[in-house]
Amino acid sequence: MREFTGKIVFITGGGGGIGAGIAQAFAERGARIILADIQNTFAEEEAAKLPAAAEAQVITLDVRSLESWSAAREKVERQLGAVDILCNNAGISNGFKPLADVAPDEFDRLMAINVTGVYNGVRTFMPSMVARGSGHIVNTSSMNGLTPFGSFAAYSASKFAVLGLSDALREELAPSGVGVSTLFPGLTRSRMAEKDAGGATGQDEKRLLAIRANMMEPIWLGRAVVRAVENDEPYIITHPEYRAGLVARQERILAAFGEPAQPGYKTGSSATKVE
Ligand SMILES: NC(=O)c1ccc[n+]([C@@H]2O[C@H](COP(=O)([O-])OP(=O)(O)OC[C@H]3O[C@@H](n4cnc5c(N)ncnc54)[C@H](O)[C@@H]3O)[C@@H](O)[C@H]2O)c1
Repeated sequence: MREFTGKIVFITGGGGGIGAGIAQAFAERGARIILADIQNTFAEEEAAKLPAAAEAQVITLDVRSLESWSAAREKVERQLGAVDILCNNAGISNGFKPLADVAPDEFDRLMAINVTGVYNGVRTFMPSMVARGSGHIVNTSSMNGLTPFGSFAAYSASKFAVLGLSDALREELAPSGVGVSTLFPGLTRSRMAEKDAGGATGQDEKRLLAIRANMMEPIWLGRAVVRAVENDEPYIITHPEYRAGLVARQERILAAFGEPAQPGYKTGSSATKVE
């Protein structure tokens, strides 16, 4: 998608740091913006900062509920028209803690918002994009969706799920002309990041307090998202400092590929895709 003037961009978690950054960046390019959030007050504050041409609207949405998504879609389509770009960005973290300390309902809530919320968004807006043969979906994962670290297992699991969903969906939708991109933020200024940095202890605390002074400003992530949609790029990486960790992890995975576990097994027979 090359031209954004007048396009309708629907951003979940639009009242949060990164969602607001994405909103500002699309508004800079003349798009119309819908900030969807479970917290209206945050979204109203961000909407007030956008230029008049963005015709910013706030919609109350709980990404966990398909009914809530349905009501949001009906409202947008009645008032503005079809959504051109969907940013499934709402997400929560449950702070740094060992997985043993994550309660079952806490795990379920994290998955419901971070993973089912993305599925619900796709389910709501994808059919009309496919029918029109145009549109773009941007899903927010995390660097923790590429290189997990201890004390963040549940969150990492949710963000790996976003990557898997997005990669597969990108392949599925390619023939229809609908693009899919995944955003992998590193530490970025937002309420979530401030809270996580504040809650860390010991070595984590020292490391995070040091990084805290240098959190990336969300507008730059937003501008990277706009460029990725413009060029239909699959991955949006904004924090290059995580590269070495990812390379090391990929090398460890590749090193585990060797001879088939079963002697005489014909390799390739079960691969669905050979490149
Ligand atoms: N800030 C970072 O350093 C960082 C790093 C990696 C990934 N991320 C991801 O970026 C995304 C945005 O996070 P952020 O850092 O801007 O945090 P944030 O807390 O500022 O914003 C998240 C927004 O999502 C909203 N939200 C929460 N639950 C919701 C629900 N059920 N339905 C609708 N909205 C809901 C919140 O009200 C909030 O406004 C998240 O998916 C997060 O996991 C953030």
